Amino acid sequence: MASSEPTIKAENLVKHFTVDKSGRGFLGSMKALFHRRKRLVKAVDAINFAIRQGEFVGYVGENGAGKSTTIKMLTGILVPTSGSASVNGIIPYENRKENAAKIGVVFGQRTQLWWDLPVRESFEMLRVIFRVPATEFHYSMGRLDKALDLEPLMEMPVRKLSLGQRMRCDIAAALIHRPKVLFLDEPAIGLDVLAKESIRNFLAEINREGGTTIILTTHDMNDIEQLCERLIILDDGKIIYDDETELLKKKFLNEKEVMVEFHENVENLQSLPGLSITREEGNKKWLTFDNNVSNTGELISLMAKHYKIKDLSVREPSVENIIRNIYDNRIALPKHDEPYGSGSKMEEKK
Ligand SMILES: Nc1ncnc2c1ncn2[C@@H]1O[C@H](COP(=O)(O)OP(=O)(O)OP(=O)(O)O)[C@@H](O)[C@H]1O
Ligand SMILES: [Mg+2]
Repeated sequence: MASSEPTIKAENLVKHFTVDKSGRGFLGSMKALFHRRKRLVKAVDAINFAIRQGEFVGYVGENGAGKSTTIKMLTGILVPTSGSASVNGIIPYENRKENAAKIGVVFGQRTQLWWDLPVRESFEMLRVIFRVPATEFHYSMGRLDKALDLEPLMEMPVRKLSLGQRMRCDIAAALIHRPKVLFLDEPAIGLDVLAKESIRNFLAEINREGGTTIILTTHDMNDIEQLCERLIILDDGKIIYDDETELLKKKFLNEKEVMVEFHENVENLQSLPGLSITREEGNKKWLTFDNNVSNTGELISLMAKHYKIKDLSVREPSVENIIRNIYDNRIALPKHDEPYGSGSKMEEKK
């Protein structure tokens, strides 16, 4: 494979599912006997991207946006309806085994380990399956143990592990054969604060030092902000953003967020032009507004005039907040001069 070729590529990649439209329950099943009405779900709707070796890409979107479906096509589990994909120059759904030997995958929803076996034996089985030479295996296991603290878990059957412990083992399992590409589909990293930090550091390290290309699907925007230089946002099967994570923040720098905690529950909040409530929790409200239209001073004096305020803090926009606002149609992404996913920007940088 020529080095200029992207490591992961999707071209007009489409996956449609047809699902039964008939309702649930007895009546639904009876109706389905007579007319099978189908509904088409465009899970992935003609997406394009090119990911270069060594990139760490965040792949985000709301529930049902099509993230897992994309990952499944890139790992060869699903065959696209149309379009194409390649990983390390291999077409995954045509050469699933060949692809599997060169990638690592973690699906947070289900373990790849053997439920009843001690962790050690699962690793041993994977060593055999991937034909990892013994010396290399010991080297890898040493590194993985150091980063993910596996030793105390080695003799435990997988079913007895906590979710966080299992996740550490699953990540290790995905890396035993030292793949050049790693897919992480909602690896519940954020369970235990200490483990989370060490897993993040480890992922950053294999990406930076080992040049491992990583695609991370998550709902945890802190993971994205800390790890992923590039962000792809998927909405309803389509890519709506593909660029640097920082750039998204810069584009919305005018967006300010203020958290106000009131002394009592406030029903109909006094408003300012362009102000919106993004979150409410007890007597706390998170408000965002465009700094060009209103300003923080105006907001604070308005709040202080009408309400008894317990606490107030101003924050820079977080990626999470920006994305939530995009989904809720409160803010629109600026129009781009060129289609996303061309990868041209990444080229310029190199
Ligand atoms: N095997 C399937 N059969 C029918 N529909 C499916 C199938 N797999 C996924 N879908 C549908 O395709 C759409 C995309 O699903 P997908 O699992 O890719 O979303 P996701 O972005 O991973 O969501 P989540 O954040 O909840 O994991 C959804 O509407 C889902 O219901
Ligand atoms: Mg998913």
